[in-house]
Amino acid sequence: MKGRAIILIGYMGCGKSTVSRLLAEKSGKRLIDSDEEIEKRQGISISEIFNKSGEPAFRAMETKLLEELIGNDFDGILSCGGGMPLREENRQLLKQLGTVVFLKADPEVIAARLRNDQSRPLLNGLNDDEKKRKIGEMLLTREAAYIAGADLEIDTGALSPEEVTSCIFKRIHI
Ligand code: S3P
Repeated sequence: MKGRAIILIGYMGCGKSTVSRLLAEKSGKRLIDSDEEIEKRQGISISEIFNKSGEPAFRAMETKLLEELIGNDFDGILSCGGGMPLREENRQLLKQLGTVVFLKADPEVIAARLRNDQSRPLLNGLNDDEKKRKIGEMLLTREAAYIAGADLEIDTGALSPEEVTSCIFKRIHI
């Protein structure tokens, strides 16, 4: 049976954190951000986890977190790290946990938002042009996984975070 959580997926910088906060405020539901939860548990930042243990270890932590949330019947709002839906196993766990919303955004918008960001290990050390190219490439290779993992998609291009939030409220019974 499908759980009652509302889950946001999408590429880094697509607005998951802001929209998930608004959803939690409006609904009074509990909010979990997978990156923050993993950082809290490990006592170090995502970048440090990538450096110290590598990406595969981080991905295993993401899967473990989803299994735990399912075990606890989590029914709040979950904002997922951008790579969470890449594993087939995670896509199934996410759908089991609740309704999965894919927030779509254009590479240009994402590149502008992440321009001065230092917290994403997959984009660190790149200049602006390299960052833009890498974001474009990653979006192309990831899009199929995001679509496969989602119950519904919202194109956030012309929408403010408040509008995206209202759109989710209209389309899902929260
Ligand atoms: C990642 C996205 C990040 C974080 C990690 C890897 C990805 O989360 O989980 O840096 O693979 O797209 P955000 O989408 O919250 O930035």
